[in-house]
Amino acid sequence: WHGWTADIELAKKSTLEEILKRGELRVGFEAGYMPFEMTDKKGNFVGFDIDMAKEMAKAMGVKFVPVNTAWDGIIPSLITGKFDIIMSGMTVTQERNLKVNFADPYIIVGQTILLNKRHEGSVASYKDLNDPKYIVTSKLGTTGEQAVKRLIPKCTYKSFETETEAALEVVNGKADAFVYDLPFCVVFLAQQGAGKLVFLDKPFTYEPLAWAINKGDPDFLNWLNNFLRQVKNDGRYDQIYNKWIKS
Ligand code: ARG
Repeated sequence: WHGWTADIELAKKSTLEEILKRGELRVGFEAGYMPFEMTDKKGNFVGFDIDMAKEMAKAMGVKFVPVNTAWDGIIPSLITGKFDIIMSGMTVTQERNLKVNFADPYIIVGQTILLNKRHEGSVASYKDLNDPKYIVTSKLGTTGEQAVKRLIPKCTYKSFETETEAALEVVNGKADAFVYDLPFCVVFLAQQGAGKLVFLDKPFTYEPLAWAINKGDPDFLNWLNNFLRQVKNDGRYDQIYNKWIKS
């Protein structure tokens, strides 16, 4: 019967109650994924997810506390309680969903390609890169990396710690192509100028992005989905979207 009482204790755990008691919403993300979470010149965290997180904290009546965390360990950090929620442009994958719960998607993206200019005209899709002579880059532990391994298995894949390092490799000609989420590639291309890159901007994967929370917390999930529906329909979502994504 001891196991039975332990189960009840576990079932009672409510992140929402903890947030309200603490007076703080602790949000986990990894800065660097433009335009969702970035560090500005003053060292402040900015971006689509950050603005949405601030709006969320406001709706709860608590303080927003950003927790910048390595992408590599972001799910373990959520599970061990370093923060309450992951708001980090995370794609809902079936594998991740075995470990965490996802709220409803707040945007749909997909993988796209930034190509070195020398391949203009000769490479038209990810399928053309499926040859060991092509060096393809992406970021460690992301769906970009998974897409390369699954859909371009014969290319020479090089993994990087940050998306910017991986993309710069193509700009400076050390790699042929960078595979990553559409919104990041749009911003990176705008920053670099179109001179050295070709953008294959038609997404070749389907990727809903969503907030991730610990399993076994239906109250928190219910709050989040209702909050999302509300902001999507009262203008707050559009305002944040237009600020960071629509160009
Ligand atoms: N959507 C991709 C994924 O889930 C990339 C997200 C990277 N996010 C970040 N904050 N660095 O794997």
